[in-house]
Amino acid sequence: MSRVWFSVVVATAAFWGTAVVKRSPYSYEVTPPVRQWADQPMKLVAVPLPTTTTTTTQQHHQWEGQDDEEEDDMFVTSAQHLAHLHNALIRGYNSIVLQAPHVLPPTETAADGGNDGNDDDDEDEDDDDDEDEDDDDDEDDEDPDEARHFIGYARTWVKFLRGHHDDEEAVLFPETASILHDNTLWGDMYKEHESLVEHIQALDAHLAHLSANASAYAPAPLLSLLSALRAPLEQNLHHEVAHLASLSAHPAVAPRYTVERAVAAETLLNWRANSVGAVAGGGGGLVGGTFDVVPLLLLNVDRGHNDGGNADWPPMLAPVRWALVNAVGAVHAGRWRFASCDAWGRPRELYAVGRAAERRRREQERETKKRGQEEL
Ligand SMILES: *[C@@H]1O[C@H](CO)[C@@H](O)[C@H](O)[C@H]1NC(C)=O
Repeated sequence: MSRVWFSVVVATAAFWGTAVVKRSPYSYEVTPPVRQWADQPMKLVAVPLPTTTTTTTQQHHQWEGQDDEEEDDMFVTSAQHLAHLHNALIRGYNSIVLQAPHVLPPTETAADGGNDGNDDDDEDEDDDDDEDEDDDDDEDDEDPDEARHFIGYARTWVKFLRGHHDDEEAVLFPETASILHDNTLWGDMYKEHESLVEHIQALDAHLAHLSANASAYAPAPLLSLLSALRAPLEQNLHHEVAHLASLSAHPAVAPRYTVERAVAAETLLNWRANSVGAVAGGGGGLVGGTFDVVPLLLLNVDRGHNDGGNADWPPMLAPVRWALVNAVGAVHAGRWRFASCDAWGRPRELYAVGRAAERRRREQERETKKRGQEEL
């Protein structure tokens, strides 16, 4: 996987050149959150703790070269991975919900007329040259394209969610069912996914409508669609992690030090290694989603969460991670400022929430000044 990432990064960097430095999330202002942050309203998933007792050392020599740690806790390790992935989805959801009320629709003056008509290409990967001329500006100025970028961010989140469901149904569910010879294993989860489809479609349709006309942006309809999705999605994201962790106690788990167990561990390891890329692929090939889903995922990972338990998640070399966020992130630069974490995986103040507070502060300042002048 790393090689693929690397070539994507190099190709992107070569293509964008110095624009990367000016446009990428690297240039975003980062302040630790002081107001409401993306750990609510949807609750984060608790990362499961290892349950199995550690292997007795005497047995080690019986099966040389095999990764005991991997096998011991293969289901819990996989559930931890799933929890990190789900938490990125949850922070993404929360960042959309919390910022939606503060996003400004383009005003006629701010949009310079005509901005709505020709900037609908946000979803086209190669076509972004014409947008963001005014994007490498300082964040203090009002961004006339703010709503359009926010809509792009929300659409990317929907793509991430769908890609993840597809990966679970195509790989995780059937492969664990086959490891444990139990086809009923994930019955509930298929049903839960089905119950979400309608809500996801409604949200997606609304966002598609907005992306064709950002002037129609209003917080209320978006928030109501997100709110309909919340309870069943929260339940599903928590349920799956708990269920996967519980499989270590399944009666059909092969005994330690058997070939069957080693194969099972390998299968789960492969799923973990590929699941981030699978999300990025989103069915349209790796590069299809890399430009949007990967930065959204990486910029919603809080590496200090779980007492630093996911400091190394997702497993990738630091320079690759940095480049994925910053070089690849430069492609849809305006969107990622809405993410909940910075390029290093540290929580950052939600952009629109901070901006709204700043606007209020300036207004109060003006009021005070005006009153002061009147009194003179
Ligand atoms: C875009 O939305 C605004 C606000 O709802 C509406 O007045 C306008 O007619 C819409 N434009 C198009 C092209 O649909």
